[in-house]
This record gives sequence, C-alpha cells and structure tokens, in this order.
Amino acid sequence: MSNPAPASTHPEATWWRQAAVYQIYPRSFADSDNDGMGDLPGITARMDYLSALGIDAIWLSPFYPSALADGGYDVDDYRNVDPRLGSLDDFDAMVAAAHESGIKIIVDIVPNHSSNLHPWFQAALAAAPGSPERARYHFLDGLGEEGELPPSDWPSHFGGGAWTRVKEAAGPNAGQLGQWYLHLFAAEQPDFNWDNPEVREDFHTTLRFWADRGVDGFRVDVAHALDKDMSLPLRSKPALEILVDDGSDPLFDRDAVHEIFAGWRSVLNEYDPPKAAVAEAWVPFTDRRLKYARPTELGQAFNFDLLQAHFDGTEFRTIAEKCLSEAEASGASSTWVFSNHDVVRHASRYALPDDSTLETLEAWLLSDGVTPATDLARGLRRARAATLFMLGLPGSAYLYQGEELGLFEVADLPAAALQDPTWFRTQHKIKGRDGCRVPLPWSATELNFGFGGTPWLPQPSWFALQAADVQDGTIGSTLEMYRDALALRRKLQTEESLEWLSGESGPLVHYRRPNGWEVLTNFANKPAPLPSGVDVAKVVLSSGDPADATTTIPAETTLWIAP
Ligand code: NOJ
Repeated sequence: MSNPAPASTHPEATWWRQAAVYQIYPRSFADSDNDGMGDLPGITARMDYLSALGIDAIWLSPFYPSALADGGYDVDDYRNVDPRLGSLDDFDAMVAAAHESGIKIIVDIVPNHSSNLHPWFQAALAAAPGSPERARYHFLDGLGEEGELPPSDWPSHFGGGAWTRVKEAAGPNAGQLGQWYLHLFAAEQPDFNWDNPEVREDFHTTLRFWADRGVDGFRVDVAHALDKDMSLPLRSKPALEILVDDGSDPLFDRDAVHEIFAGWRSVLNEYDPPKAAVAEAWVPFTDRRLKYARPTELGQAFNFDLLQAHFDGTEFRTIAEKCLSEAEASGASSTWVFSNHDVVRHASRYALPDDSTLETLEAWLLSDGVTPATDLARGLRRARAATLFMLGLPGSAYLYQGEELGLFEVADLPAAALQDPTWFRTQHKIKGRDGCRVPLPWSATELNFGFGGTPWLPQPSWFALQAADVQDGTIGSTLEMYRDALALRRKLQTEESLEWLSGESGPLVHYRRPNGWEVLTNFANKPAPLPSGVDVAKVVLSSGDPADATTTIPAETTLWIAP
C-alpha cells in the first residue's frame, strides 16, 4: 500500500475544484490537414475560441495510436499520438498554447483494457497458455468437453459475450482453437490483469510520461472495473448492472481498486502542484462512490446523476444536495455533467416527451428509425436552463464540445456511416453513440461547416443554423450565453457551498452562494411568480430572454441574480 505525499501548498494545487472543464473529442473538433479527422494542431488553432469561451481546462478524449474499434478507447500505444491526429511535438505545442491561454490539460487514461493491437496483446496471442505474456490479460480455458464454451456468462457492454476464443500459435495445441480472453467491451479491447505487477508498473510509467510532458490531470476510464474476481469457477453475472453494491460484485467496484488508485495518487503527488484526476466510475449513489474521490486516491469522481435525471425541479434539487454532501464527505468537490461522447446530447434528451425513459432513448436510436415526437425548441430551452442551474453550483462543471452551440443529437445518421461498436455487436439493432460525435460546425457557409476535410461522420444541413460563426456576437445565442456564464461563474465560485432558498420539492429551485449570488430555476412549463426578495433589476443572466423576467420567471428558465 502506498503512502501519498502530504497535501501540497502550491497555489495551483486545487485548481480543479471548481473548474469548468471542456471535453474535446479530438477526431470531431477541428481538422487542420483536411483528412476528415480532427487533430491536435486543429485544437491548437482553435485555442482562441476556447479561451474566449472562458473554460479552465480541456479534457482530451483518447488521441493515442488506435485502430479505432471503439473511437480511440482501444489504445495500441499509451505513450504516443495517433499519427492521423499529429505527433508528440504537436501535443507539446497544444499544451504550450493551452497553458499560455491559462487553460489546463487533462488527458484520458484507459487502464481497464488495451487494444488487441497493443504489443503486449500481440505477444500474448503468440505465446502459449500459462506464459507470462498471457498473464498480463485474462486468458482462461473454456468450459465444456472441448473448452468450446466461454469461461462464464459475462456479457460485453457493447452487446454479445465478453469472451473471445483464440487460435493457439504456440504450445501443444498450436494451430487449434484454444483459450478464451476477457473483454468487457469490444473484442478488440482485451481486459488487463491488474493483479499483475507489470501492468501496475506500466501505468505508473504512462502517468509519469504525460505528467512530465506538462499535462495537469487525468480522466480515468472505467475506473471501477480494474479489479475482478477471477477465482474459479467464475461466478455467473448475466447482466452488467451492479445489483448489490457492497464490494461483492465479481466485476465492479471491488475494494481492491482503491489500492490501485492509492498507488496512482503517490505518482500524481510526485509533482507540485499534484496532478489532478477524475474517475469515471458508474457506481450507484452510495458512500462507496465517494472513495474514488478521496484525496488519497483520484481526488474527484464523475457522478452521472443529473445526466440521468428528468428535467424536474425536485429531482435536480435532491441530486444536487446529495452530490454536494457526498463530495464534502470525501474531501473532493462535486462534479456535474449533462453531455459527453457516450450519451445523447442533452438538448435532444430534453426535447423528448416528459415521460421518456432510457428505453425511449434506446428506441430512438434503433435502426428502424422510430423517432418519438420531439420538441427541439423546448429541448434547447430546457438544456440552457439546466446548464445555468449547473454552472452556478459549487464544484467542477464538465462540458462537452458543441453543447455551447446548443447542438442537437444527429439521430438519423445513415447506417453506412455508423462506427460505434455497439452498432456492430448488436447486429445493427442499436445505433450507439455516433450521433453526439459528429464533427463540429464552425461556419455556416464554409465547406464542411469549416471543420476541415470531408468529416468521418456526415454533418446534417441543419448544422448551418447552429454553427459557431452564426452565434458569435449574436445576443441571446447559446454560445454567448455560455461565454457570459463562464465569465460570471468566476465571481460565483468562491466558497464551495450554497444555501437553498426554496423548499425540498416543487418546480421552483432557488439557491444562494455565500457571496450573495443567487440562481433561480423554474422547471415548470408555465411562468411562476418571482419569489419575494428577488430584485429583477439584479438579474444579470437568463437562459431565456431577460426581457421576459418581470414579475414572473418564464417557463423552463434559469436566472442568475447578482448580490
Ligand atoms: C467509457 C468511455 O467513455 C467510452 O467511450 C468507452 O467506450 C468505454 N469507456 C470503454 O473504454
């Protein structure tokens, strides 16, 4: 068990606690060399845009060499840049440009699995069962007379089973079908064996590699899955949900993951200021989740509660309150997120009928094109209100590229364009996540909306309406609302606390930060009287038309009220 260094007194040691972090999905952000794929120089070239937006940090989704079986979350080489996205020199130039603009860089680390093209996995395939090469992954003999059945019933996150059988290249059974390897995601993403010290050591090397190049933090992919109960016989787990979250699940949120992250913290604390880290851990809302965020571990953990909530005042208020107390108990600050590269964009989620469930969303993404009635104007109105509700809260706000343009999901991508492994592993039943990954529209009039070459996913014609240059300088545009909010947010984000001014339930949610700033949201679909004491002259930002806030607050609107 490692021994984390004492807390740093560096003035920037806690920069992440209330940061606005902007997620860049590099292949879809900006393409500098016209090959249709966004790249690192494209990001550097847009640093002025990011600076004017007012973010504190960029979180960069994977940019490592990869055959893109899962959009880069299948990593061939953890310490290099995909040549299609640039070089290590381009990476350094991007970090330098960001730092010059006062923007920090967080990179994605993918420790649960490598790609099948990673040299270690290639070596494992070439080696015999029982070899040290195989011991870096989870290879097992199959069940059944001939080993023809997978070692367990575990499913993959993207559909189908989590085991793939290999043809042996070495050993007594060379040339024949042999062992099976575990992949909780696509077959091209073999899971590492985290009981192997070599795996642990190699990730420490990777953390130091990027930290030495100047990155400020790490986003840790599938953090809750690294430790697995591989004792034989493997236990049955026909669905991937955690049913009882007490550490007894064979795959997720097991106690031993915390020992791994304590080791990571020791590495991150070799730097001053210490490097930040945030866990992607889809674990239920219990005090187990806060363990990932302890200062002795990663420091922060995503929570996806608001992202999964309906646009409902009582739900939002309850979640915000719980997340804030959870964060306080762990010594972290809370995180907030509505959109990322894995989910339907929030302007579109909120455009669905009120009774929509996750099943409705899935149906929406089915290949037969069933589209529930959507009210896009309402979706955007609610997304803007939700965003201002969230940006006023204490903690870190994670924003996903394009949400500042109010972008909608591209739900009708043609089947031939789809690339998400979910599409292939569900036999073309579920489209998956490509609809939120379509390259950004920078310009309404330029070729490919100013993105660069012919984009790797086709852009719809309606992107012209939401392009950045159309919104730039346009009063009331979503882009200008984000810019205003992110600038004002610096004034709000002093002490990390708030006082609720409204009751525990109901459509009107109202809170005050210690420095007097107030945030008021009307979640109802009709106007509500302004609460007494709210001076309309002090309303400095509205998610709707400020002129509409008089004696009432309009439907589905958030107001920011200065002290
Ligand atoms: C979570 C990432 O956000 C997602 O995009 C990816 O497919 C899985 N982890 C597997 O790495």
